[in-house]
Amino acid sequence: MTERPKILVTQKVPAAVYPLLEAIGDVERNDEEGGIWSHEELLRRAPGHDYIFSLLTDTIDTHFLEACAAATPRLRIVANMAVGYDNIDVDTATRLGITVSNTPGVLSDTTADLAFGLLLAVARRIPEAEGFLRSGEYSGWGPLLFCGTDVHHATLGIIGAGRIGTLMSRRAQGFEMTVLYHNTHRLSEEEEDLYHFSYRPLEQLLQQSDFVSIHVPYSSLTYHLIGKRELQMMKPTAYLINTARGPIVDEKALVRALQAGKIAGAGLDVYEREPAVEPELLQMENVVLLPHIASASLATRTRMATMACDNIVAYHYGQYPPNILNPEVLR
Ligand code: DGY
Repeated sequence: MTERPKILVTQKVPAAVYPLLEAIGDVERNDEEGGIWSHEELLRRAPGHDYIFSLLTDTIDTHFLEACAAATPRLRIVANMAVGYDNIDVDTATRLGITVSNTPGVLSDTTADLAFGLLLAVARRIPEAEGFLRSGEYSGWGPLLFCGTDVHHATLGIIGAGRIGTLMSRRAQGFEMTVLYHNTHRLSEEEEDLYHFSYRPLEQLLQQSDFVSIHVPYSSLTYHLIGKRELQMMKPTAYLINTARGPIVDEKALVRALQAGKIAGAGLDVYEREPAVEPELLQMENVVLLPHIASASLATRTRMATMACDNIVAYHYGQYPPNILNPEVLR
């Protein structure tokens, strides 16, 4: 490539990114604080860029990729600043010879911290109790004031024994919890010992856990993995924690299960129709709701952003992007 590549950054990202990209190309950036371009706006701006630095809020579907592949210059790489890449049609990108990369690993600890925080918050009713105090209603210590559920020595069921799921188990050890896990493949005995994991088929995990925490990637295989049937298997005293992706849980079924007292509560960071949230959830005190912030520490977001840049820069210099998702396009 003789001309400087055209690079599009679709949202405001940590500042460390821009000099890295400006060193190799001409950068068009969305500088609006919290500004997410609509799909139409993205489609209007993206064709004619060589490299796209994307976020999980960008829908990079067939139509989008075909438009970018037909433009001059044609799109060569989409570097997603997220470990999840369900926003990108990787098969179509591969068909069109477009490289796709993500940012695995660097956000696992931060995400597990938040998942465990959500678990504590909902079990011990922390946001509810804080709201009570801030509203001036606190008039003195009471033996029954905001009694919640113990986390220590309880049973945690982890669905998905990948990077984040195993780190969630490490956090649970500090609370002397019993940890069950379910995964598409069972781990080796050594790994189970290392993570203090006891394997259970999904149904048994749901029946036996006091807290169920989801750590699987989203795909057609995990769509509504937790629906009416699964929620009914959980203990009426149990809590569901989801920091993975919204559509893994049937959100309407979750609302009905909470209304009927089939489970005790939920801690959610992600939603089925994000950023929309089922309105009933907003009214429930036994539910803690966060705006998809599991990886949101400045240090981690900076690492994710830098990693996405590293993928672009490696591609630019003819090297293999370290976190490529479709290596077959470069073979
Ligand atoms: C991801 O990276 O997939 C998270 O959902 C956002 O950090």
